[in-house]
Amino acid sequence: MTSRVTTISAVREAVAGARAAGKTVGLVPTMGALHEGHLSLMRRARTDNDLVVASIFVNPTQFGPAEDLQRYPRDLGRDLALAGGAGVDMVFAPEPGEMYPPGYATWVEVEGLGERLCGTARPRHFRGVTTVVAKLLDICRPDRAYFGLKDGQQFVIIRRMAQDLNLPVEIVGCPTIREPDGLAMSSRNVYLTIDERAQAPAIHRALRAAESAIAIGERDAPTLRRIVGEKVGEASLARAEYVEVVATEDLLPVARIQGECLIALAVWFGKTRLIDNIFVEG
Ligand code: PAJ
Repeated sequence: MTSRVTTISAVREAVAGARAAGKTVGLVPTMGALHEGHLSLMRRARTDNDLVVASIFVNPTQFGPAEDLQRYPRDLGRDLALAGGAGVDMVFAPEPGEMYPPGYATWVEVEGLGERLCGTARPRHFRGVTTVVAKLLDICRPDRAYFGLKDGQQFVIIRRMAQDLNLPVEIVGCPTIREPDGLAMSSRNVYLTIDERAQAPAIHRALRAAESAIAIGERDAPTLRRIVGEKVGEASLARAEYVEVVATEDLLPVARIQGECLIALAVWFGKTRLIDNIFVEG
């Protein structure tokens, strides 16, 4: 049975009990509207740890003023059942006031990395992400915390935060789970109209085209950007916000693929913004 708690003290108490019994703890932070992507993280955490905690919290501080905080999909009953099925022992679903009481004033910010890629159009987004994840890591003190590589920039930033703050946690990156037609699973896919949904797999096709080019020796970053941009452009409803080839180290653009790089893009379909990426080695 999955237990549901809403207070920080209840999480601390449960984790302390598990620790006293010598158990390991895994944490899976989410904003709910769970799909197979989230569940893959929970199953992995189940395999690796004795106690699995998942958080479900639509974190207001990572949404911009014009973004979808109000209409973000929420269905806690359904999420609890799915989390239970994936082996989660405890769901932490706090109210915003539990995480950000009146007078809240402290932020965790990874400089530089949070300003690039998605950070250009979403200036305070990653500050909100790192702040809430730092709080969740402190509340839960897990041995391991699980994040999807689907949000490649988020993963790189959280890993850097943990490293820079010497947090005693292993940040585990998990592969992107996709629909059969290649579209990366996302809670925001439900916003797509039927026509937009039909065209959205162009994003993954574009990344696969870049992957194929790399497989036959292409290393030139501008060429790879062009390949991705052109393939996405084949979808008439797509409007690319950015297509970038960056080093995973600093998320700065590279001239050539060398070492570990990220090919990342953000694409608008109507009012819906989708992101995707692939990690590549040169
Ligand atoms: P959310 O979008 O709910 O995603 C929760 C976790 O699931 C993230 O680590 C995300 O990368 C992962 N995820 C989402 N779609 C995935 C997919 N298709 N395949 C694999 N993993 C996937 O990301 C957030 O919430 C928030 O920013 C959060 C980290 C919880 C902080 O508020």
